[in-house]
Amino acid sequence: MSNEWYTASAPGKFVVLGEHAVVYGKPALVLAMDRRISCSVRRSKRNTLNGEPLDFNRQPHFRYLTRDLRYAMDFVTNSEIPAGSGLGSSAALSAALALALKEESGRQMTEKQLVDEAYGAELYAQGNGSPMDASACVHGGGIAVNLPESTGKHLWNISRGNRSWNVTEMNVPKMTFVVGNTGIRAPTGPLVDKVRRFTNRSHFAVDIVDEIGNITIEGYDALRNNDVETLGRIMTMDHKLLSILGVSCNELNRLVNATLPYAYGAKLTGSGGGGCMVALTDTPEKVASVIESRGGTAYIVQTGSQGARSELEMSTDPLMDIPMDP
Ligand code: PMV
Repeated sequence: MSNEWYTASAPGKFVVLGEHAVVYGKPALVLAMDRRISCSVRRSKRNTLNGEPLDFNRQPHFRYLTRDLRYAMDFVTNSEIPAGSGLGSSAALSAALALALKEESGRQMTEKQLVDEAYGAELYAQGNGSPMDASACVHGGGIAVNLPESTGKHLWNISRGNRSWNVTEMNVPKMTFVVGNTGIRAPTGPLVDKVRRFTNRSHFAVDIVDEIGNITIEGYDALRNNDVETLGRIMTMDHKLLSILGVSCNELNRLVNATLPYAYGAKLTGSGGGGCMVALTDTPEKVASVIESRGGTAYIVQTGSQGARSELEMSTDPLMDIPMDP
């Protein structure tokens, strides 16, 4: 039995426009960010995760992605992406784990197959949602979902029931975003369900979802033309629409309001209910300090991060890198 380590990593992401509405097949614009999660695997006598016995009941992503494995494994994860915060940690984990397992098995995998694996793991773990996060974490850079006549390179189509998502590559001019984390963990599944219940019982909610789709198309033009003023204004409008859908919260509103005097626009990013907001600005230090002064954690985001990749240079034992609990 070879007990060599295989490591892969994938970036987190943030949504510029279109979260929640994308679940209904509306457009969305997403950027990968320079915070990654890595996953190392090696054959073993029993399944362990970060040095502890692996309980598959508590780790549905691992259960799904190892469904065809005929041997036990040691798994080690290292993450710079806070969990349950709207930055795609579960899609990034799924993409990194799926790629590391593929490398270990010696088999090849296309990007589309990797997206299918990561999206499958997300659906298994949370039961709902779109392939937006999986696509962004696998491909990296910028992606657009369901943009009519999008000018970017076509990447893949994914369908589920009567919904389908056409994913294209999006070239993004240099822009500065600051992400602010409220520190409140909010899992995606219940928020997606909340919006579904609202749209099932109210035409008004369906109109809000349509409106998010419409402004996302306008935002795409602004982004392509490097028109930060228009894009920022649309981001703030999107935050208001998401608030009406019931997925914002006081802490997110507080960070959005505090950053607006120093930003072109700001909004929650990801599923909401806590987690993160994002501001578009050309004074990132100022915006970061405003976020921190309100008790949030700020990340000045470098965009254009590489997608899921093998970390072939890994030579040390990844178990040595696990941070100790304080
Ligand atoms: O909070 P995150 O990182 O899981 O992002 C969720 C994005 C949603 O649009 C709310 C759901 C989805 O699957 O597209």
